[in-house]
Amino acid sequence: MKGHPGGMEHSLNMLTLSQLLPGSSILDMGAGAGETVRLFRNREYKVRGMDLKPQSEEVEQGDFLQSGFSEELFDGIISQCAFFVSGNVQKALLEACRMLKPGGILMLSDVCPKGQDLGRQAEEAGFLVLYAEDLTTQWKEYYIEAIWRGTADCVPCQVKYNYQMVICRKKE
Ligand SMILES: C[S@@+](CC[C@H](N)C(=O)[O-])C[C@H]1O[C@@H](n2cnc3c(N)ncnc32)[C@H](O)[C@@H]1O
Repeated sequence: MKGHPGGMEHSLNMLTLSQLLPGSSILDMGAGAGETVRLFRNREYKVRGMDLKPQSEEVEQGDFLQSGFSEELFDGIISQCAFFVSGNVQKALLEACRMLKPGGILMLSDVCPKGQDLGRQAEEAGFLVLYAEDLTTQWKEYYIEAIWRGTADCVPCQVKYNYQMVICRKKE
């Protein structure tokens, strides 16, 4: 079972869109089993992963809403399918903005209640949206697969949601 819609292909697409170069420091907020951490490390990025309930040794235990990381530490941050389940998307966005260096890149894909816009929320937190895409079709396939396998506990059991991807730059 993939931890987020689109699996590794989606993660690599986000990395490409970020234009971050190998060697860049990246934090995965809500890294789960560390799939994206390993994937990016194998491409020579310096990646750390944080999760409330780490599922592998590559991921550190911690609450990304109060991570304890210092300001302006990372060149990039990725979060897939985690801000929404944290229960406080706006706080997660503000924390991501705080931890990024000026000009740093946030790669975010997440569930979003219909009528809300992840890009607008990111702008309110101090980001400039570089790219946005609606991935609801991909998410529906993922959701059906999760229900089928009985692993849908991380997926909100409602239907009136979209799944959005935004790539943003922290305003300088
Ligand atoms: C749907 S899973 C996605 C995991 C991973 N991003 C992936 O794509 O495989 C959501 C993850 O977010 C984590 N999470 C939710 N709120 C969190 C918080 N405040 N701090 C750290 N992790 C959190 C959960 O523990 C869970 O592992």
